[in-house]
Amino acid sequence: MCGHRLVRLTIVLFMAACASARVSGPPAKIGDPLPGLTPAELARFQAGKAVFQRTFDAAHGLGPLFNSTSCAECHEQPVVGGVGKGEVGGDDTEVHASKFTNNQCNELTQQGGPVFRQHATRGDPPPIPADANIGRRTTSALFGFGLIDTIPDAEILKGVGRAGGRAARLPDGRLGRFGRKATDATLSEFSTGAFSVEQGIEVPAELSPGDRDLAVDFMRFLAPPDRAQQPHRGADVFQRIGCADCHTPSMKTGPSSVKALAHKEIPLYSDLLLHALGPALADLCRGIAKPEEFRTAPLMGLRFKTTFLHDGRALSLTSAIVQHAGQAQPSVDAFLKLRPEEVDALLKFLQAL
Ligand code: HEC
Ligand code: HEC
Repeated sequence: MCGHRLVRLTIVLFMAACASARVSGPPAKIGDPLPGLTPAELARFQAGKAVFQRTFDAAHGLGPLFNSTSCAECHEQPVVGGVGKGEVGGDDTEVHASKFTNNQCNELTQQGGPVFRQHATRGDPPPIPADANIGRRTTSALFGFGLIDTIPDAEILKGVGRAGGRAARLPDGRLGRFGRKATDATLSEFSTGAFSVEQGIEVPAELSPGDRDLAVDFMRFLAPPDRAQQPHRGADVFQRIGCADCHTPSMKTGPSSVKALAHKEIPLYSDLLLHALGPALADLCRGIAKPEEFRTAPLMGLRFKTTFLHDGRALSLTSAIVQHAGQAQPSVDAFLKLRPEEVDALLKFLQAL
């Protein structure tokens, strides 16, 4: 009896210790900075947000090819840094194209790819070659991405092989983790590319590295979405039918000069690995990712999304789940065998992320 109580007390103390390692201060609202930033870091978050929202025009470097005039034009819902509005044919959905031949990815960079721009400051943007593989891409949310940036490669490598996951090892040996095809190793590199690709803004000629770094710090310091009360039954179902094999519930960040980023648990629900999800979802290759391979989508902030999967083809969570195939087929089969109340619990769990 007494021993039993001691065990319970230890568990309670342990849980309290874990909770305090995760958050300090009240939970962040969506779009808030990470709790525990220093005043200097907070100032960079605010100044960086202004760069992220800065509207460029042709006199200030925009183009010659571009998709939009500012980062915040696309990353806008429900607040700056979030997903796109998702309107069909709108600016927030991009067209990517490449060619996969002899097991090699040709990103069509000479022909204007792999992100084919929708606008040009003069003339027309180059057309997509007729024989290319084309895919649409909805805008991803960036909440908690500084924590993702701080996860050590070794932490990601722990998941390799689970449900067939493979690391997106870049030619220089680092691990790709950003972008739906895990093309980039760091937030800074993806963002430098985004300025160039989305706005035709080149660093350092048209934007100073200092301003670029501010924009990156805005994203680095964006807090992950807080978690509503987690319905435990749904979390159990998620685990039991194998969703968590790819959607790893949490990972630990490594050291960082920013205290608010160092040694934190991040509830990302992704292994940051590439998985082959079958021919129906397959579209184009990028980097080392084959047409049927995608990085496991992080599920944090799922409750702010209205369209799902890389091109927004799923309009409900159930539709997103049943469209998984390939390496996720066993998990989908298990999902289809759930009792209605288990499905309900799983969906409630997902809607609370
Ligand atoms: C025209 C719309 C648009 C604009 C403008 C835009 N983005 Fe994005 N962004 C996207 C889309 C679409 C994706 C998803 C790409 C993919 O599927 O890999 C994305 C992905 C990202 C990611 C990676 C997210 C992930 O899932 O790993 C980062 C970081 C990012 N954008 C930063 C920026 C920054 C910084 C700017 C401004 C320089 C910017 N974006 C401008 C549409 C846009
Ligand atoms: C084999 C690995 C794997 C398994 C198992 C798996 N997923 Fe996924 N999941 C992915 C990948 C990869 C994507 C990204 C696919 C895309 O963007 O088209 C994804 C995307 C999603 C999305 C869409 C997220 C978004 O932002 O659009 C949801 C929701 C989701 N998974 C839920 C689940 C659930 C629930 C289960 C269990 C029934 C599950 N997944 C099992 C790998 C997996």
